[in-house]
Amino acid sequence: MLRTNTCGELTKKDVDKKITLCGWNHARRDHGGVIFVDLRDRYGLTQVVFDPSHNKKVHAIAEHLKREDVLRVSGKVRYRGKGLENPKMHTGEIEIIADDLEIINSSLTPPLEIDDKAEANEEIRLRYRYLDLRRPIMQQRLITRSKVAQSVREYFTSHDFIEIETPVLVKSTPEGARDYVVPSRVHNGKFYALPQSPQLYKQILMVAGMDRYFQLARCLRDEDLRADRQPEHTQIDVEMSFVEVSDVHEMIEGLYKQIFKKVLDIELKTPFKKITYDEAMEKYGIDKPDLRFGLELVDVSNAIKGSEFGVFNSILEHNGIVKVIVVPQELGRNELDAWIKFAQEHGAKGLAWMKVTGAEGKKSSELKLESNIVKFFSAEIQEKILKATKAKAGNTLMFVADKPKIANEVLAKIRLKLGHDLKLIEEHDTKNFSFCWVTDFPLFEWNEDEERWEPAHHMFCMPKKEDLVHLQSDPGKVKCTQYDLVLNGVELGSGSIRINDPKIQEEVMKVIGLSHEQAEKKFGFLLEAFKYGAPVHGGIGIGLDRTVALMLGLHDIREVIAFPKNKAAECPMDGSPNDVEEKQLKELGIKFDAVKKK
Ligand code: AMO
Ligand code: AMP
Repeated sequence: MLRTNTCGELTKKDVDKKITLCGWNHARRDHGGVIFVDLRDRYGLTQVVFDPSHNKKVHAIAEHLKREDVLRVSGKVRYRGKGLENPKMHTGEIEIIADDLEIINSSLTPPLEIDDKAEANEEIRLRYRYLDLRRPIMQQRLITRSKVAQSVREYFTSHDFIEIETPVLVKSTPEGARDYVVPSRVHNGKFYALPQSPQLYKQILMVAGMDRYFQLARCLRDEDLRADRQPEHTQIDVEMSFVEVSDVHEMIEGLYKQIFKKVLDIELKTPFKKITYDEAMEKYGIDKPDLRFGLELVDVSNAIKGSEFGVFNSILEHNGIVKVIVVPQELGRNELDAWIKFAQEHGAKGLAWMKVTGAEGKKSSELKLESNIVKFFSAEIQEKILKATKAKAGNTLMFVADKPKIANEVLAKIRLKLGHDLKLIEEHDTKNFSFCWVTDFPLFEWNEDEERWEPAHHMFCMPKKEDLVHLQSDPGKVKCTQYDLVLNGVELGSGSIRINDPKIQEEVMKVIGLSHEQAEKKFGFLLEAFKYGAPVHGGIGIGLDRTVALMLGLHDIREVIAFPKNKAAECPMDGSPNDVEEKQLKELGIKFDAVKKK
């Protein structure tokens, strides 16, 4: 090694040792003759002193040092002296009095500060990612990610799982997003797809008798990006044979228990809460509820039946619903207007409200409702509303009437915003991790635009036994074995017990409009494999990026990915996606007219 020690390890017990350190010039201070340099590497900072009265030649070189120059320094460890110690640094008791200095490499002036406090804009951070990653906070994030990955491997290996790599050039594995495709040179006009996940391959590994499989798998999806979505993400991908839903849940709960203990020293309570999809939609309006706070929604469609409020009546007549969220506060006119605007911006036609008045602690029959619309509601209906919502004096009720999908979506957003605004969620409470399993998802979902059924998750989820009879007659009624793992309102993972019967698989494909021929063409290899003895199997795919981000209290998964893409799916550092040579296109048999977007 070119060094004897790292920049983060020397203390008082090393005084008088002769050492050599390598690192970056983090900061240089010239104190009238004596020069101090903070030398930085991944492990920390060490103060180096260049004193002309100690070594003139070395001091002269140090006069020309620039920020981020890479240095190799030899010298002696000495105690800084009483009152000069820096208790914030592990190496704060000592400094190095330099005898030798080599500039291994000099640096241009960095376009961003190598500092945890000053954050450059995103384009600059991604363009000069190697400088951004020099920041200690980014190094810590990648170290945490590495520890999580390590812990995942340890856990599964100790539970008899085999780590198996599945191919990256595959036949399209549909997960609902667009595929990235790769043209074949050998077979001009044909394409591989990059895997959206190893779904079909892990199922086939179960047919192959592997029993327990895991992989830290890269998954590629050409979809619109958000803070928690990247074109490539990493999944903790798992599949097990001869299991039921509860077996997968227990295995994954054990995994999280271990990761949180090892990496954050936090004891998670297991089993995690369980909530069915229907209950989640009813109470929280969303299939990934944030259970760190209450504010449950209440469906008052029945309670308000027979009112004279035309807006609600006409919506109820058209298969709509009326749902309420109870705000545990009295809201003023301006606040209400802001909420109405918020609701409309998120797709609601309107937002109605009522204030609850009366003495504190009164029964609902003794409370009153006040608002511009209460005149349309009889005393009897008002009492029903108060009863259904369990509202108290001083509360404000907010109503959204709409198709169930929209009413739920809007109220779920209102609920989350209330959670933040009313400080019901302590974002900075690093121990506030609320996990839950959402179970019993519908198998299909109606695509209004294309007027057809599509898989709610993917088409390999086993329907619930009791619902098999409805497969063809009433697909919307079929629930399946799918479960999602949710943490603080974020979907961490998704899985199910799979279909292992080729007949059921074909029936499901039929519902979503795949003919026998199309099914054969697309998934023939899977259907064929199932004909040779397919075990009962199930598993899950968990977002590693999201897991690490949430563990660190972050929302943007790019903070825990070394080289992420920007919002336009580009890498500002390497310039991808980029043009390729005419010759490459020719070999691939591709000719195209690029439509240049402005
Ligand atoms: P699914 O598509 O739900 O399931 O993905 C599983 C988990 O992967 C993460 N994830 C993403 N993370 C970042 N960027 C993305 N674009 C992205 N897409 C998904 C999420 C998500 O919960 N094969 C199935 C799993 C199974 O059934 O076993 C699958 O891929 O955290
Ligand atoms: P309007 O008749 O449009 O003036 O609406 C009367 C009241 O009902 C206003 O307070 C609106 O904000 C509210 N409102 C209108 N449409 C809806 C809706 N879909 N859900 C809840 N409230 C609504």
